[in-house]
Amino acid sequence: MNSSLSVVSAVQLPEQTETALAEKFLFKPGPVEPLAEKKLQEHARNADVLIVAPGAPLSSELIQNLNLRAIATFSVGTDHIDLKAATEAGLPVFNTPGVLTEATADIAMLLLLGAARRATEGSTLLRTQTWEGWTPVQLMGFHVHQKSLGIFGMGRIGCAVALRAAAFGMKIAYHSRNRLPKDVENGAIYHSTRESLFENSDVVLLAAPATSELIGVVDKSLLSSMKRGSILVNISRGDLVVDDDLIAALETGHLHSAGLDVFRNEPQVDPRYWDLPNVFALPHLGSATTETRVAMGESLLGQITEFAQQLSINA
Ligand code: DGY
Repeated sequence: MNSSLSVVSAVQLPEQTETALAEKFLFKPGPVEPLAEKKLQEHARNADVLIVAPGAPLSSELIQNLNLRAIATFSVGTDHIDLKAATEAGLPVFNTPGVLTEATADIAMLLLLGAARRATEGSTLLRTQTWEGWTPVQLMGFHVHQKSLGIFGMGRIGCAVALRAAAFGMKIAYHSRNRLPKDVENGAIYHSTRESLFENSDVVLLAAPATSELIGVVDKSLLSSMKRGSILVNISRGDLVVDDDLIAALETGHLHSAGLDVFRNEPQVDPRYWDLPNVFALPHLGSATTETRVAMGESLLGQITEFAQQLSINA
């Protein structure tokens, strides 16, 4: 098929994805750096399908000003799209669930271990050439073996992290809106409230999607209910966390450390995090492996192709 559907990307995509889209559709690639809203409107003027991404949001104004037939996002998360406006405009929204589970679960373990084992401080010693050699008391960290990991949001990614953490000897607990079937739960302890999960875990992992009810849920009250010396890991979205409250908990030492891949208002991250040696942080790399990013592209290509077929069937 060489459809006349116009597919425009707001951002640069992996080469394979761009080539495949160009073979099937009238494809207009996007720039490396996301465009400002006015420029994006101009860039996407003739788009039937606009591909956006977490770094390239889609506001209700843009949805109203463009003449789209569908929206696609190069991500599983859809919080950067005004979904209410998309629904009102009758636009389907395609995303990429399923294919980034393993890569994101790997990053969760990297964050957990990096925070627990003081990787920021260790790496700084080497990079500033201030390491004076091995000592028996240097950078003693948090032992993860036999500690409890409380997973907030036990979807595909939460379950994949549970498998990995169990292999590290961690005891798994979780809170989700609904309890999972026993075979999926796989021995993990269910907490029917998030308060109970936070209070009873040595490490809390945020893996729940950033729905509007969860914005700012990790606040002073939940953080102070965590055990003294515990760890918070976030692979979901920064919007779940109140930065002032997390920074205070890290400054006072109430929390041992935090492992963060996501931040409120990316890429303008609250700079106070960089003064905290007990923060191990990455710039939203959860799905950033070549295999995963190519699979995300294939997922969108498949959905847009199906959409184009439906349009020509219905035409
Ligand atoms: C997603 O897909 O929502 C991720 O956050 C991007 O890696």
